[in-house]
Formats: sequence, structure tokens, C-alpha cells
Amino acid sequence: MEKKASGPLRCLVTGAAGFVGSHLCEGLLALGHTVAGVDNFFSGRRENLDPFASHPRFFFHERSITEPGLLEDLHKAHGPFHTVFHLAAIVSVPYSVEHPEETYHVNERATVRLLNDAEKLGVRSFVFAGSAAEYGIQDRMPLRESNAGDGTRWLSPYGEAKYRATMAVASRRRRPRGVSLRCFNIYGPRQDPSSPYSGVISRFVDMAVAGRPLTVFGDGLQTRDFVFVDDVVEAYRHAAASADESANGPCGIYNVGSGRPTAIVDLARLICRLTERPESITFCAERPGDIRHSTASIEAISRDLGWAPRIGLEQGLRRTIQWMRGAAQPTGVKASPDGDGSENKPRREL
Ligand SMILES: NC(=O)c1ccc[n+]([C@@H]2O[C@H](COP(=O)([O-])OP(=O)(O)OC[C@H]3O[C@@H](n4cnc5c(N)ncnc54)[C@H](O)[C@@H]3O)[C@@H](O)[C@H]2O)c1
Repeated sequence: MEKKASGPLRCLVTGAAGFVGSHLCEGLLALGHTVAGVDNFFSGRRENLDPFASHPRFFFHERSITEPGLLEDLHKAHGPFHTVFHLAAIVSVPYSVEHPEETYHVNERATVRLLNDAEKLGVRSFVFAGSAAEYGIQDRMPLRESNAGDGTRWLSPYGEAKYRATMAVASRRRRPRGVSLRCFNIYGPRQDPSSPYSGVISRFVDMAVAGRPLTVFGDGLQTRDFVFVDDVVEAYRHAAASADESANGPCGIYNVGSGRPTAIVDLARLICRLTERPESITFCAERPGDIRHSTASIEAISRDLGWAPRIGLEQGLRRTIQWMRGAAQPTGVKASPDGDGSENKPRREL
């Protein structure tokens, strides 16, 4: 059994200016780690970097993950990375349908190249942002990690590219040890509500705060599994630690969700209540290609990594609403040059 790394580590976060990536950078900085962040602002925003851009242990590179030699350049600039957290991706499913080749290039091929370069450069662990979209069309819930396979009917190039990249990451038997986290519907502060393809919570909260009716596609009885962004950051840290701990131990694919289905219409009602708005919900035509139900089994990640979500839907929504109203409040551990974030320490973490 190899020894678990301790003390401050040097990490790379791709997609650092994104919704989840920016929270992850902040969480790692708060724990004392040094973070190099990469983003080309394809969908990320400069404002997301603002809370920690001038942190003395944060280094930002505006580059694309598709550039050959990227990891080698960063290795030369900063020294060896202990962990690569690879979150950069084309994240819009409809965009991936319109631009399949670009999606495979960014989401699959660039991931495989980063992985190979990580091996050459001695990176110890590689944690990848997989997705629930890897499951495609499925009848039975909750979804278990074994439910996606080569016979899966994916709904988009996004889902298929994520699946292939996950398999490349999780099937490694050499360093870096790879873990893919198949996240379900992540929500929280900084999620961009402006695109029609944004997460349903950011769109609903945006509509409610602006006093507009909430638009539900279809009958609203379709269900999703929502997980708060701080819990996702914890899952990334647990995954990195587990990949670091042993040469043959947990290393693979894990769902990250709440394990609970929430009907979209119930979500809309809850957001109306929490924003103290009259219940104003408009139903419109179902969107073609939308799956009916999606719920994670979180048995494997709880058992192997000791992770479980801590923030319930109502609490997470309150924080999201508060952020959307412009009264941003701390979302878990905050980056500070000397803060150790110990108040949020889970059992096993990077
Ligand atoms: N948000 C969710 O509900 C959810 C669910 C499952 C999986 N994921 C995955 O988690 C990761 C983060 O998602 P997010 O919600 O924060 O989305 P996001 O769009 O906010 O973040 C993705 C980031 O990647 C960057 N990026 C895209 N192409 C790039 C390139 N070629 N080079 C460098 N940077 C590039 C974007 O600019 C953006 O900052 C993604 O891989 C996504 O597929 C998200």
C-alpha cells in the first residue's frame, strides 16, 4: 500500500473559470494547495475567477485543453502536478448535437491526450468530470455505474464522448490513477442562468427572482437528481485522495448525486415558496430528446470513498437564491491564504 500524500499539493484544474471548476479551485486553495487553472472561456466566465484570482497560490492560464504540449508547458512553469482535475468540456448537450466532431475532439480526444501526458509527467491521480449523460436512455432507476456500456443508446455526442473518456480514465492500471465522477444535476451559486440550456435550477431561480413565471417543459412530472456544488467539490477531493491512496484500491467510476428523484414541478413550487413569490408556473411543450427520469445510486461512492451529500435541496436552493439576489454568501470553504477550511473536513480528502 502506498502512502497517502499529505501536506500542500500542486494541482491542475481544467475548466477553472467554469461553474464547478471555480468552486473546486476555491476549495483546494482553502485547504492550502497550490492550484494552476486552465480555461479558454468557451463557456466559463472571468467573474468566476474573481474571488481567488489574486490568491498567491493560484496561477491562471488562458489556454485550450486541445493544445498539444499544454501539460508539459504547465509542468515546466510550475513543477510536477500531484493531481489533475479535468473539468474543461463542451457542456451544452444541444451544442454537441450540432457540433459532434468538435465535441469528440474536446471532450474525448483532448482528455485521452491529457491522460497520456499526465503519465509521462508523473502525475499521481487524474479525476475526470464524467456525467449522468453517459447513461443515455435507461428504464430502471436508480442508475448504477454498471448501467452504461458499449450497448448504451446515447442521446447526444456529449453523452457518448463523456462515456468514452470515462472508460479511458477509469480503465488505467498505471499512474496516474484515474477516477471519473458521473455527476447528476449540479446546482448552486455561479451557475449561469442566461442560456436556454442552463441547468433548470439556475433558470427557475433566475425567473423567480425576476418575478417571471417559471416555465416547465411537459407535464413537470419528469424527475432529476440535484446535488449542490459544495458537495460535488467534496466528492472531487475524496476521489483524488482515493486514487492517491493505493495502487489497486478504489479507482474507477462513481455516481455523484443526492440519490433522490425530484419532480420538476415540485422543484418549481419549492422555488416559488422560497423566493416568496405566488406560485406562477407555465407549462409548455415537452422538449424532444428529454429523458423522463434520472436518479443516481450513490451506494458505490458512499461505500468506497465515504462520500455522501450534506446539503439538502432546500438549503442548497436558499444559498442559490441568495447568490442570485446579489447577496453572495460563502458557499462552503473559502479561499484565504492562511485558512485551512478545517470546519468542512470530510473523513477522506485530498
Ligand atoms: N453542471 C452540471 O450539472 C454537470 C453535470 C455533470 C457533469 N458536468 C461536467 O462538469 C464539468 C464542469 O461543468 P460546469 O457545469 O462547471 O460547466 P461550465 O461550462 O461552467 O465549465 C466548463 C468549463 O470548461 C471550459 N472549457 C471548455 N472548452 C475548453 C477548452 N477547449 N479548453 C479550456 N477550457 C475549456 C469552459 O470555458 C468552462 O469554463 C464539465 O466537464 C461538465 O461536463 C456538469
